[in-house]
Amino acid sequence: MSQDNQKPVRVGLLGIGTVGGGTFTVLKRNQEEIRRRAGRGISIDMVADLNVDRAKELVGDAAEVVSDARQVIANPNIDVVVELIGGYGIAKTLVLEAIAAGKHVVTANKALLAVHGTEIFAAAREKGVMVAFEAAVAGGIPIIKSLREGLTANQIQWVAGIINGTTNFILSEMRDKGLDFDVVLKEAQRLGYAEADPTFDIEGVDAAHKATLLSAIAYGIPVQFDKAYVEGITKLSAVDIKYAEQLGYRIKLLGIARRQEVNGKVLGIELRTHPTLVPQRRLIANVEGAMNAVMVQGDAVGTTMYYGKGAGSEPTASAVVADLVDIARLTDAPAASYVPPLAFQHDSMSTLPILPIEEVVTSFYVRLRVADQTGVLAKITGILAEQGISIDAVIQREADEVSGEGGNQTDLILLTHDTKEGSMNKAIAAMQALPTVLAPIVRLRKEELA
Ligand code: HSE
Repeated sequence: MSQDNQKPVRVGLLGIGTVGGGTFTVLKRNQEEIRRRAGRGISIDMVADLNVDRAKELVGDAAEVVSDARQVIANPNIDVVVELIGGYGIAKTLVLEAIAAGKHVVTANKALLAVHGTEIFAAAREKGVMVAFEAAVAGGIPIIKSLREGLTANQIQWVAGIINGTTNFILSEMRDKGLDFDVVLKEAQRLGYAEADPTFDIEGVDAAHKATLLSAIAYGIPVQFDKAYVEGITKLSAVDIKYAEQLGYRIKLLGIARRQEVNGKVLGIELRTHPTLVPQRRLIANVEGAMNAVMVQGDAVGTTMYYGKGAGSEPTASAVVADLVDIARLTDAPAASYVPPLAFQHDSMSTLPILPIEEVVTSFYVRLRVADQTGVLAKITGILAEQGISIDAVIQREADEVSGEGGNQTDLILLTHDTKEGSMNKAIAAMQALPTVLAPIVRLRKEELA
């Protein structure tokens, strides 16, 4: 039965920048459609923003604008607080205060939840309120809902995603236009994709925050950003992008969560973000520019992929409003009927460990700049064999073909089969010590995603 005669859900926005502005616009433009879906209206009654004049210009008379977020939290008429401030600082205090005041919370703050999610979800459970965060991962793509609800029948084998638009834009432009990293980064900032501090994007931290949230929802483990392996794209060189292409691969910054299973026994969860070679023929390898895509493999459903805009005003607002609709539908229901924030009931969380990176199993791309002498390749393959690493493919390129350095140097590029990262580390240390290896060895991880 429709609850259409119910009073609207009253919302207070903390922050009306890019995403807040989009949320206001989308709710206004689609209010009738949204009311029909939610069974009641959703009304932004208050907005807190330090820039009161700009906020007033945006919302006009539709909402009360204040500079102090605590006024929103203290207002007994506000049912839901939407936190769009970002960061781990004041945003954390305000979210916890909003929960303590009995408000439901919607947030796009991946950093906050990846680091302090356990505390925040526990506080919300205690208070009987919802914390919804669809906008925190992959912007407009409903990946949280897909994993938490649509794929709930499955054992999730792995999740792998392009979940940072800035770095995907940079990698795409570097490859397509041969542009330098710095030039492309500036363009990404101009287009509004990058975080306030772009090191979070380019060093992989933003993607790792999101991967942490995905791992928790996929496996019912607590959020553990501190155990995530994080490697960004700043050390990636054009020559490796080119060699990868020649071998049939593209390099993408992937956030990966994978259940590691050996002989039917689950050993733990891999949680890692790093540049990754992906076969060119996979759809995800062709996700270009600032677009995001997440692949999920479940034992029942097989491989699925979700694609869309991972950032920007209205795409992210689309996720915020979807959370508001969920809350509007459930706000009079008993807390026991809420979908658990991390997909699993809080008393059924898994204690599977996040595996250290040395325990991760993957295949590798390895590039060695070597002296062009007889026996070099034999020595290298010998070292790999000692570590039990088997080679899938080898190519050799004259160094001057790519670097103009010429001389008696050559680049050896090896692709390996799956091996433990710890074994690869030992092999790399041994190969690096060879006098015929002339430069630091480059090692990138490779995923077939089949
Ligand atoms: N800086 C992020 C990105 C914004 O580039 O994807 C969305 O989280």
